Amino acid sequence: MKQIDLKDTYLKFFESKGHKIIPSAPIIPENDPTCLFNTAGMQPLVPYLKGEPHPEGTRLADVQKCFRTNDLDSIGDTTHHTFFEMLGNWSLGDYFKKESISWSFEFLTKYLEIPVEKLAVSVFKGNDIVPADNESANIWKSQGIKEGRIAFLSEEHNWWPNMELLGPCGPDTEIFYWRGKSVAPETFDPEDENWVEIWNNVFMQYNHEEDGTFTPLKNKNVDTGLGVERVTAILEGYSDNYKSSIWKDIIEKIEEISRLPYEDEKYSKSMRIIADHIRAIVMITGDDAGIKPSNTDQGYILRRLIRRMIRYAKKLNIDVNSNWEQELALMVIEKYSKYYKELERNKEVILQTLKDEKIKFNRTLEHGLKEFEKVVKNLEGNLVNKDIAFRLYDTFGFPIELTEELAKELNLKVDVEGFKQKFKEHQEKSRQGATGKFKGGLASTRRNGNKISYSYTSFKCSIKKSFGTSCPSKR
Ligand code: ALA
Repeated sequence: MKQIDLKDTYLKFFESKGHKIIPSAPIIPENDPTCLFNTAGMQPLVPYLKGEPHPEGTRLADVQKCFRTNDLDSIGDTTHHTFFEMLGNWSLGDYFKKESISWSFEFLTKYLEIPVEKLAVSVFKGNDIVPADNESANIWKSQGIKEGRIAFLSEEHNWWPNMELLGPCGPDTEIFYWRGKSVAPETFDPEDENWVEIWNNVFMQYNHEEDGTFTPLKNKNVDTGLGVERVTAILEGYSDNYKSSIWKDIIEKIEEISRLPYEDEKYSKSMRIIADHIRAIVMITGDDAGIKPSNTDQGYILRRLIRRMIRYAKKLNIDVNSNWEQELALMVIEKYSKYYKELERNKEVILQTLKDEKIKFNRTLEHGLKEFEKVVKNLEGNLVNKDIAFRLYDTFGFPIELTEELAKELNLKVDVEGFKQKFKEHQEKSRQGATGKFKGGLASTRRNGNKISYSYTSFKCSIKKSFGTSCPSKR
């Protein structure tokens, strides 16, 4: 089991290769109102990938705070996270395939000491726009990757972000690690789930224009991304990310607070949700953008995270009125302040925000849960209809997702579409009403949800109709 500080090792390595280490951009994009969160290391760098000179030069590396909520409900398994950190190195018209590939290889095999026998790669097999990437394949071979471990794959796999999105893009080469118990097969089968993608090197050299053409960018760039959580777990030999050193102390703290063992499957999912959400909550509230729980945009996501976390704490019989969430938040702040100085600076805001929202939610949750139980008892059939869902939202502050989750646990369905319709009607009425006080809220999320992504970055986090952010789940 290898224990290293992956982030430090990575940044030092790329510094030694002439890269300037830049701080993570905020988790809330600074100049892109179409986008709720940064979802990849390259996202804040789009203008520079398009040719604008970067003040720090042409070789950059960082660890970027990212947040993706494609599927909040899948959080709770052993490999998904809302907040995650992405390591990346960039060449802005400086080095290209040869250096990019050989440095990745050097870092993995010499610094992380991954045996070459456990590695495989994929490269782009070519299409009408770009020929097969034999160059990358040959570079991999020169590094010691055997031919059988190199797969030529289609644009579906080896074009980033994909062929539909507008903006900077290009073919990529992905690096896979064998985490099977047996010896890795000589031939790389990308369908075999024992091969896990660990690093993506994109050769960003095109701009996908609005008219559908792919024009060469001013520079041939490199954009790479390596997920800290996944790679740390792999290096430490865990298939459950939450057992790795990244999460261990947080999970232990939750065990201590709840006096329950993580190893007991009855509790592990709730613990993972709390661990994931507290980290994301700290990162969002700790950002200088000053996001507060609300019914719109990032504030709505934050509210959902806090409320979902509290609900799972209740499931573990944690006394939610105690200081449990403050203790956990402090732990996260301490753990991450080294990289994200804003967390220390905004410490009081983080703690106060959590406390305030907890109090608010506790007040309504008790009543809401009682109401939910009552409603369920009297339910005919297995559908929680739109009126019930709306009342839970309107009177008890239940986000629709919470109602859905509660219902799912009892094998019930919720008329979500009906709820949305009712919500819209309610909003129209309020708008026409004299007071006009009830504004925005979910409605503005919905409005955004109908917006068609028009740029590369806006797609990456365009708001889905289902009140969530939509981001690719490649990593
Ligand atoms: N931008 C690439 C990714 O996120 C490196 O996979």
